[in-house]
Amino acid sequence: MRTPLIAGNWKMNKTLDEAMAFARYLGENPVREGVDTLLCAPAPLLYPLADALTGTGVAVGAQNMHYEAQGAFTGEISAAMINDTGASYVILGHSERRQLFAETDASVNKKTICALKAGITPILCCGESLEEREEGRTADVIKAQVVNGLLGIAEADVTGVVIAYEPIWAIGTGKTASSADANEVCAAIRAIIADLYSQEAADALRILYGGSVNADTIDGLMAETDIDGALVGGASLDPASFHRLTTF
Ligand code: G3P
Repeated sequence: MRTPLIAGNWKMNKTLDEAMAFARYLGENPVREGVDTLLCAPAPLLYPLADALTGTGVAVGAQNMHYEAQGAFTGEISAAMINDTGASYVILGHSERRQLFAETDASVNKKTICALKAGITPILCCGESLEEREEGRTADVIKAQVVNGLLGIAEADVTGVVIAYEPIWAIGTGKTASSADANEVCAAIRAIIADLYSQEAADALRILYGGSVNADTIDGLMAETDIDGALVGGASLDPASFHRLTTF
């Protein structure tokens, strides 16, 4: 069966001191076994955080990367650089990257392929805006993002991708999708994978929900059939709160 994954996305938050204090907390308060746990940190924190979390079972991930191996791309980081830090995941196509930094399905696709080749687990994000939802276009928007994000990826590799469904209207707003609504879209994503690849691939691939997940909502979300974990922003910034999310 699919191992649950609870992933924190710190976004552009935390100093080195704060990250080290967080790691100390997790050293003293071990996370639950049988659940994959992950903290996606700003690039300068990847190496020290991965180092400080050694032995805790908590993995570290980046929040973006470039698809080229190296070159004149000021401000970007490569897959090899992420590997060097000890991080093993990367968030790709987060709606904030799509909206604020002109990320497209095409660039997300190239990055996803690049991450897989480098042995880094990509967390491919998708999600509809409030306007798209109200216009009844959620299914089409999600399908386009998932299909285009996975273009050219073979069945043998696709189960190494994690998909995160994050409705934009639920991010940082306090409005979590109901567990049933979130599950409905996650099930639709799994059906897309079954259609594109096979039922076996769909059954193996992990799908997360993200959008104002917190201690009050995690249990209901994790009880759903097609939600395999959560990608958490605000509630992952406090160590006790993050730890609580892993105890669903
Ligand atoms: O990637 C996580 C995310 O965008 C959700 O953020 O603060 O609503 O949990 P938040």
